[in-house]
Amino acid sequence: MIRLENVHKAFGDNHVLRGVNLEIPTGTSMVIIGGSGTGKSVALKCILGLIKPDSGKIYVDGQDAETGDRDAFLARFGMLFQGGALFDSLPVWQNVAFRLLRGSLKRPAHEAREIAIDKLRRVGLRANVADLYPSELSGGMQKRVGLARAIAADPEIIFFDEPTTGLDPIMSGVINDLIREIVTEMGATAMTITHDMSSVRAIADNVAMLHDGVIQWTGPVSQMDSSGDPYVEQFISGNAEGPIEAVR
Ligand SMILES: Nc1ncnc2c1ncn2[C@@H]1O[C@H](COP(=O)(O)OP(=O)(O)OP(=O)(O)O)[C@@H](O)[C@H]1O
Ligand SMILES: [Mg+2]
Repeated sequence: MIRLENVHKAFGDNHVLRGVNLEIPTGTSMVIIGGSGTGKSVALKCILGLIKPDSGKIYVDGQDAETGDRDAFLARFGMLFQGGALFDSLPVWQNVAFRLLRGSLKRPAHEAREIAIDKLRRVGLRANVADLYPSELSGGMQKRVGLARAIAADPEIIFFDEPTTGLDPIMSGVINDLIREIVTEMGATAMTITHDMSSVRAIADNVAMLHDGVIQWTGPVSQMDSSGDPYVEQFISGNAEGPIEAVR
């Protein structure tokens, strides 16, 4: 469903992506791991076309991501941004139903609201949260509203940037199960970025480790513990000593 071929992206002299190759088969769950600041979020934004790569090719369902109808392209995606990116001026339910209230996916407001409340329930939030504003929620609740928005339009392809960061262990478990369910029951293709190793094990079919601008290792999650890759081993163990330097 998604293929990156030799993707490069620099910001000034900060050469973040240095030839990323990655393939995500349809209906599978890929988890990207890697140190802070290595370019995971940048890679994800490149696929969505929010950041333009300097060179390389990105294909979504066989189509060059840079050509074609942007609206139709984006309508296939659901996205949870790392920082939440909720609209402060809209109540929770209008945030969740954002895409159902406008454009090609538009529905009557009462239907959109019902869907929003159903999706909020899926992420462990009660209906009374629907009429609050984002600033009235805790950080973890905002994160879950972002998740509910990502799945609101039942997208074919879902990107989650740090879905469990800031959540308690039980709520992290709920979200991991939800992501797994979206892939196995709805057949969606998922790409998740996380530092949470329990989340990796719960949701990944395949894992890819980004370091120094390239995918250092990729393989099925079942092979992650015996990867033989020093970067992966250090990342899993959380060891301060190893090929990944602590100062970046
Ligand atoms: N729009 C931008 N303009 C300039 N530099 C950017 C931009 N976006 C990202 N960067 C730089 O690209 C590098 C990678 O950032 P990115 O957000 O992809 O890291 P990350 O791997 O997602 O890290 P984290 O795990 O902390 O979220 C960083 O050095 C960052 O400063
Ligand atoms: Mg990031």
